[in-house]
Amino acid sequence: MSRPVTYGTYLGLDKILGAQEPPGLDGRPRPIAHHDEMLFLIVHQAYELWFKQVLHELTLARDLLAQDPVPEPDIMRVVMALHRVHEIQKIFVAQLGVLETMNPADFLAFRDALGNASGFQSMQFRELELLAGLKDDVRYEYEGRSFERRFEAADVERFAAIRAAPTLRDVLARWLARTPLEPGFDGTYLRAFEAYVKSQRDLHAANPQLAGAERDATLRRLDDYLAQGRAFLAGPEANVRAACLFIAAYREEPLLHWPNRLLDSLLEFEELWRLWRFRHARMVERMIGLRVGTGGSSGVDYLDKTAGNRYRIFTFILESRSFLVPRRLLPDLQDRGRYGYARA
Ligand code: HEM
Repeated sequence: MSRPVTYGTYLGLDKILGAQEPPGLDGRPRPIAHHDEMLFLIVHQAYELWFKQVLHELTLARDLLAQDPVPEPDIMRVVMALHRVHEIQKIFVAQLGVLETMNPADFLAFRDALGNASGFQSMQFRELELLAGLKDDVRYEYEGRSFERRFEAADVERFAAIRAAPTLRDVLARWLARTPLEPGFDGTYLRAFEAYVKSQRDLHAANPQLAGAERDATLRRLDDYLAQGRAFLAGPEANVRAACLFIAAYREEPLLHWPNRLLDSLLEFEELWRLWRFRHARMVERMIGLRVGTGGSSGVDYLDKTAGNRYRIFTFILESRSFLVPRRLLPDLQDRGRYGYARA
């Protein structure tokens, strides 16, 4: 007779609640080494369960955006999936506070039992980075080694499979490149941007509180800004960048509302990810000071670098924020009907 489905069997609690038996350095199961090791294990396991859910949501988002064309209701589904991810990411940040109830001296009491195990080897964390679209060339390595050198051969094969598939960043860029912009938008936008920079220049030139050299430096900065804006709208991914500006500029048009929320959601994802990196580094600093990590890195120094500006994914969305201009400088759309709901 088959077993009835119960709360415990449905959730597989045998496996989950029986999984707090870490291997000793000899590979055999060992008892928990210290009262606080239970907390250490459970917090990490909770993260891994949530990583699994986030992978599930980001895979959905990637697959929906990979369609050509993307049906309009699917943009909303991607935004909803990302909203769920944001709420989980907030738990990621908050959860570190639970771990900080552990005294550093108590951590030290069982730290050696971890051997060389480190969060650096979290397979799902690396999968998430790759799926989102973090590029290998921005990563910091330690001892000149790629993170994959810390994994088993089977894991490395899995990484290769993830790398061969499109990332969220890839499909987003392709979808943006297909955005139906108004004809001549690039030129119209550039003129609006130039008018905006000119108004900023006039404002600073007339500022009585800026002395000669200071004022010249500010005006030079604005000239550089103008050149950056022009460059932003030219070059290889120019249509992707123009789409970011178009969507944000005309976000009140019904058809552009959800695309605009999508761009915001991706920036929020990235922001919360970086917030976790920073928060993890602060927790580590409190816990182990400046000592070397169990994985062998320089510890906090390495972690702080990964929380810096290099680890960015959706750079074109972020950069587009620098070149937004006030709505009043933009002409009304010539073909508003195209971006409304009612299509015959
Ligand atoms: C007492 C608690 C913790 C300490 C002292 C700690 C320390 C460290 C250190 C020093 C590193 C750098 C690599 C190394 O040399 O080992 C690292 C990396 C990492 N840790 Fe933790 N950690 C702790 C808790 C956590 C938790 C709860 C998570 C959640 C999953 C986590 C996830 C990670 C990840 C994903 C990395 C790799 C970051 C990257 O390379 O970008 N850590 N940790």
